[in-house]
Amino acid sequence: MAYRIGQGWDTHRTQAGRELILGGVRIPAEFGLSGHSDADVLFHATTDAILGALALGDIGMHFPDTAPEWKGAASLQFLQHAIQLAAGKGYSLVNVDSTIILERPKLKDFRGAVRESLANAVGLPVDAVSVKFKTAEGVGPVGEGRACEAQVAVLLQASA
Ligand code: C5P
Ligand code: MG
Repeated sequence: MAYRIGQGWDTHRTQAGRELILGGVRIPAEFGLSGHSDADVLFHATTDAILGALALGDIGMHFPDTAPEWKGAASLQFLQHAIQLAAGKGYSLVNVDSTIILERPKLKDFRGAVRESLANAVGLPVDAVSVKFKTAEGVGPVGEGRACEAQVAVLLQASA
């Protein structure tokens, strides 16, 4: 197959006293996200999107949160491992489109930094990487500030 499409979703609870890391960028905030790793919801959803495109299962299959070697791991490692798996199957990324849903703080001032960081992480030019931000309009756990979500779509193409 010349092309494969994938989608990924992730959510993490907000937690005081943790750093807020989105797409490898530290965002100033009064809270971070809880999780076994650095809880980078955007990198996790991107990892799942790449694994999904190739029907390689999900992030928990490859990096079980019970495995001591992944405790506190930078999510960049998960993402780059997924890209290596894709390369091993003869596929490379074409583009990434993502949405982070977080009630506060406003993220738009960090769009350039997050795009650049995600682009570097996946080895694409910045114009092939989209990062969108949404609130949840005060509704549900994300809207109440109790969680953050990310949704990501990726396209892979056969390298040969
Ligand atoms: O969710 P809503 O449609 O109200 O978001 C309006 C705009 O606010 C978004 O298009 C986005 O640019 C920005 N935004 C942001 N940081 C957030 C949520 C939304 O900068 N946490
Ligand atoms: Mg996660």
